[in-house]
Amino acid sequence: MEVKQLNFNRHSIQGTIKVPGDKSISHRAIMFGAISSGKTIVRNFLFGADCLSTISCFRKLGVNIIQEDNEIVIYGEGWSGLKEPASVLDVGNSGTTTRLMLGILAGRPFHSVVIGDDSIAKRPMNRVVLPLRQMGAKINGRENGNYTPIAIQGSPLTSITYELPVASAQVKSCLLLAGLQANGETTIIEPAATRDHTEKMIQHFGGEISIRNNQISVQGNQQLTGTVVDVPGDISSAAFFMVAAAIMENSEVKLENVGLNPTRTGIIDVLIKMGADISIEMNKDASYEPVGTITVRTSILKGIEISGDLIPRLIDELPIIALLATQAEGTTIIKNAEELKVKETNRIDAVARELSQLGANIVPTEDGMIIIGKTTLHGGTVSSLGDHRIGMMLGVASLICKEKVILEDYEAVEVSYPNFFEDLQALLK
Ligand code: S3P
Repeated sequence: MEVKQLNFNRHSIQGTIKVPGDKSISHRAIMFGAISSGKTIVRNFLFGADCLSTISCFRKLGVNIIQEDNEIVIYGEGWSGLKEPASVLDVGNSGTTTRLMLGILAGRPFHSVVIGDDSIAKRPMNRVVLPLRQMGAKINGRENGNYTPIAIQGSPLTSITYELPVASAQVKSCLLLAGLQANGETTIIEPAATRDHTEKMIQHFGGEISIRNNQISVQGNQQLTGTVVDVPGDISSAAFFMVAAAIMENSEVKLENVGLNPTRTGIIDVLIKMGADISIEMNKDASYEPVGTITVRTSILKGIEISGDLIPRLIDELPIIALLATQAEGTTIIKNAEELKVKETNRIDAVARELSQLGANIVPTEDGMIIIGKTTLHGGTVSSLGDHRIGMMLGVASLICKEKVILEDYEAVEVSYPNFFEDLQALLK
């Protein structure tokens, strides 16, 4: 475990930055390139540990994936180009790799075993294993298939109509990937809209999909064709700089080329509702995913309630939103966010514990947290607990702490943003 002394000792954040490529889109670009026929070029791919795990798994599945300068090139040979791996598929820390890949493996005629790190071994897989079994998949793992290691013997799949018990883009995407290989039409019904990158990507790779309100359907036996994917900057990474600019004095940060897919922009809605000084400019020439520039300045903030359908649109931003709320006047209530308990860590406990350590007034609840602001944060020793988003949130918190902060396990940020601390340092004045 590595320890970082965060003693930025600066008062404002100013400048322009392009954050790295979107994690969700980078994973999907590799997977869709791998199951399509022909060449796929991925530009602005995120070279973070999670997406590198996806590349390594699909290489083990026999797909030729190479890096040319900053681009990834995938030579897909269609579904049948995937071959039985000679060793276990290691997903590292990546839930997206695990759940989406299971949807692909379920229909491939070979045996494979999926493992990951200690965090992955605690994350529930029944949410994909149970519906995949309904489709005919032969899949098992620890505790009846709920945890890794998971073993799969691929088999022919039958389509299903499935109402998601939780609003999860990973589960939806897994079942769409299985549905593309099944006989007949698969329909997924969502309780609330979640990120729709998989739906967009199916269309981008020449597939067919029908979307009616909260019902998404794909026909089986579809063959996809390789293409070029321009990955927008990750709004979930941009969020750390947006919040830093809002809570620090005399600050203004301009974030260029950020993905602005409406299923991901809950953080912008929250900043606006809290009274932040924020402006958005959409790029006119963006490709199949909307992209734009976000500018955030020092803000006077007030507490709000964050709940309901907004939650899936900002699920990964809740740790940094909790920090934002410590700097808002009044009470912020986060509800309906029980999914936070099954992320890379239990993020309700992790956020409440680590931010309290720095002097925040924050109470964990069954499905979220209550934060009372505005509080002055002092210094202390905190830990990412191995969770990249907790590590980056604490890095931003240290900027407004009165004394020095020691951050344990800081290298966890490599999962989604390997140069996070360097990029942050470069903007501090
Ligand atoms: C993701 C979906 C979300 C999110 C995760 C990435 C994706 O998870 O938290 O970081 O790429 O589909 P759930 O779908 O499980 O909520």
